[in-house]
Amino acid sequence: MRILVIGSGAREHALLRGLAQDPIEPELHVAPGNTGMDPLAARHTELDGTPLKVDDPAQVTDLARRIDADLVVVGPEIPLVAGVADALRDAGIAVFGPGREAARIEGSKAFAKDVMAAAGVATAHAEALESGASDAEIDAAIDRFGPVWVVKDDGLAGGKGVVVTRDRDEAVAHVRSVHSSGNPVLLESFLDGPEVSLFCLVDGTTVVPLLPAQDHKRVRDNDEGPNTGGMGAYAPLPWLPDGAVEQIVRDVVEPVAEEMARRGCPYSGLLYAGLAWGADGPAVVEFNCRFGDPETQAVLALLETPLAQLLHSVANGTLAAQPPLRWREGYALTVVLAAQGYPASPRSGDVITGADVDGVLHAGTARNSDGELVSAGGRVLSIVGTGPDLVAAREEAYGILRGVTMAGGHYRSDIAGPAVEGRIRI
Ligand code: GLY
Repeated sequence: MRILVIGSGAREHALLRGLAQDPIEPELHVAPGNTGMDPLAARHTELDGTPLKVDDPAQVTDLARRIDADLVVVGPEIPLVAGVADALRDAGIAVFGPGREAARIEGSKAFAKDVMAAAGVATAHAEALESGASDAEIDAAIDRFGPVWVVKDDGLAGGKGVVVTRDRDEAVAHVRSVHSSGNPVLLESFLDGPEVSLFCLVDGTTVVPLLPAQDHKRVRDNDEGPNTGGMGAYAPLPWLPDGAVEQIVRDVVEPVAEEMARRGCPYSGLLYAGLAWGADGPAVVEFNCRFGDPETQAVLALLETPLAQLLHSVANGTLAAQPPLRWREGYALTVVLAAQGYPASPRSGDVITGADVDGVLHAGTARNSDGELVSAGGRVLSIVGTGPDLVAAREEAYGILRGVTMAGGHYRSDIAGPAVEGRIRI
């Protein structure tokens, strides 16, 4: 089987690793990928001498045809929202990822709220604030929320456009900053309680959950500093009550999948439910139409079921016929090594050493003219450890990380800390 993976982050590196371990030994391709993926996949960055645009449906379809791909796995949301999966399906190529209409579950917060309301799914109260809003309208809207403000960029921001703050001035400043980029803002009521990321394979109305995971979105230890795309994650969640995953599937993901099918945009691919587990049970913070990063790096490290055959079954509509998923015992944890200045203004070009070991996944990396591995993005590496318990998984991940050097690199030292110390309460 020939598989083309679209994307260039540590999530796609984790997907390629998982696909490479499938006993059917697929031939792997990636576009655009990064230098760390070279041992696993043929990398495609150009088409006929010009840079390939992975959010261009025609270009991706052209590449998939030239490769003669049996399956295309689309990692990021932007190509999905742009309709890459539709173009591939129209060309008769199997694709893992929703079409443009279904991808609106991430691409349009208003659509997601509407689907959830129709499906009876618990979520935060939200109000849109258009970019033309006056100062008085912004002030009035801000005063309808608080004392914790959740201010979201309502464009596609890859999880990075959210400010959660008790500081009213900071909330107003983020509204203005998003508006100055031309995007609308979504103000939301704050959902209290520990966060859960549950990734579900969805094929129409068949829903198969993966292991639950937890992301750490703030840049510094103890959840301080600005939000990022995610600085680390672990799976599964030892503090979740028994039956929690089944409850989320029954009360959240299945009703949403059924509602989308009813609307004529059935979902096919990975539906990521981001939830807060409050006093009344789980409520949806957001849906994403793709695997999450960095949770995927931890979740896939524990999956034993052959990944290529599993993703192919979603793409060809036979998920319901698959046997139950098999998982390794124990836990997995990932820590992100970020570049100097991340998230505001990451610096590129810092030389990285010690990264050529098992457990290191690449995101923003490249080679300089001397062939050295250098930083080339905000989140640079994702280091994965596994073990019989969370303590052992942490020790393995941080042990590998201590062998990596990169000037100005920073990471959180407390991934899974609250879970290990028993500080998470439902
Ligand atoms: N883990 C956050 C995201 O993938 O958006």
